[in-house]
Amino acid sequence: MDTCKILNPTQSEVNSMATKQKLPFIPLTESQQSAFCRTDENLLVKPLAEEFSAVVSWQDIPEKYHHMPGEELSTRISLARQELGEKLVILGHHYQRDEIVQFADFRGDSLKLSQQAAGQEKAEFIVFCGVHFMAETADILSASHQQVILPNITAGCSMADMARTDDVLDCWDDIQQILGDEKIIPITYMNSTAAIKSLCGKNNGIVCTSSNAKAVFEWAFERGNKVIFFPDQHLGRNTGLKLNIPIDQMLVWNPFKPMGGHDDEKIRDARVILWQGHCSVHTRFNVRQIEKARSEHPDINIIVHPECTMDVVEASDLDGSTEFIIDKINNAPPGSKWAVGTEISLVNRLSQENPDKLIFCLDSIVCPCSTMYRTHPAYLLWSLEKLLEGEVINQITVDEETAKYAKLALDRMLHEI
Ligand code: 13P
Ligand code: SF4
Repeated sequence: MDTCKILNPTQSEVNSMATKQKLPFIPLTESQQSAFCRTDENLLVKPLAEEFSAVVSWQDIPEKYHHMPGEELSTRISLARQELGEKLVILGHHYQRDEIVQFADFRGDSLKLSQQAAGQEKAEFIVFCGVHFMAETADILSASHQQVILPNITAGCSMADMARTDDVLDCWDDIQQILGDEKIIPITYMNSTAAIKSLCGKNNGIVCTSSNAKAVFEWAFERGNKVIFFPDQHLGRNTGLKLNIPIDQMLVWNPFKPMGGHDDEKIRDARVILWQGHCSVHTRFNVRQIEKARSEHPDINIIVHPECTMDVVEASDLDGSTEFIIDKINNAPPGSKWAVGTEISLVNRLSQENPDKLIFCLDSIVCPCSTMYRTHPAYLLWSLEKLLEGEVINQITVDEETAKYAKLALDRMLHEI
């Protein structure tokens, strides 16, 4: 039986399996995710030295920035930005702090920002206030004369960190061996390394974001019988369900178990293989929070991001990307009420910008995405002042070969969807 082969393989079988038993691995970004969760404070920026005391492993920067108060940081960022003029473009993801978003030339979700990055031909420097995979994507899509800067080099994404490139390559090899000629299309969420995007590009696959995941899955099923989706199992499952794929035809690939924890037959029978990754921010939301919001406000609208678990998405009224959430709420009638299941900096901003509506986060604990939160204004200032001195710090570059195939997968999303 296939299961026995996996539990008790011979030496030659072990040698031919790429995914051997591996030690479970928890990304540092995941273990530090709750460092800034609080019940009794707002998210106003504090001097960097105070934020360092939360026991986080952020990039260190020159001492002179450690104690600078918020107002001084803002004034100096404005001056530096003015001096750099058209040479500079600052991109800000919706989950960034207000003290960063106020300086963004463009605000957006990961799809919109990647398109903005591709369109900024005049700018020599693209300072990406977001996380590492976004800056990599900007480097791939931007022109060769442009340099992409991530102000705090440790601003990663715990979900992207759950799909280590080698583990994904091993998984891909294993699946190819089992499926033989059967066509499986690899799809990776934008939240992944350039190397994983490249693997998708090389193998007739594609990238998606939460704005277009359903259309991308449809694209893939026109070209193959199966899909493998990296790295967010929840977005993948929620998208599969939207396409009416039965839950028992979707399996989760555990990278720490041989063959993802499945026998060959199960892998052959599956239509969707989901990488075992998740977002620590969006998996905080649960159905009890939705029930509480509905009981306290019977006319509430519940809107969540599709990185939430399947039961949360099912219990909500609407689900979609950050841009979708913003659009729905901004265009809702005055007096409407919204309980939102996404990152708190965005929810707070929506609430401030829509004073005629009741808008609150489903989770009563204030718990920002700790990696988005790493872009403290001191890092933005440091990166801009270094540019004024003629030095580019924290440049994000993707090697040519990786970029070539990653771009293929990105272009399929940007031009074929
Ligand atoms: P968006 O694609 O909606 O911007 O989401 C990115 C992200 O990291 C959500 O957690
Ligand atoms: Fe990554 Fe989740 Fe943060 Fe988005 S919210 S950057 S998926 S950890």
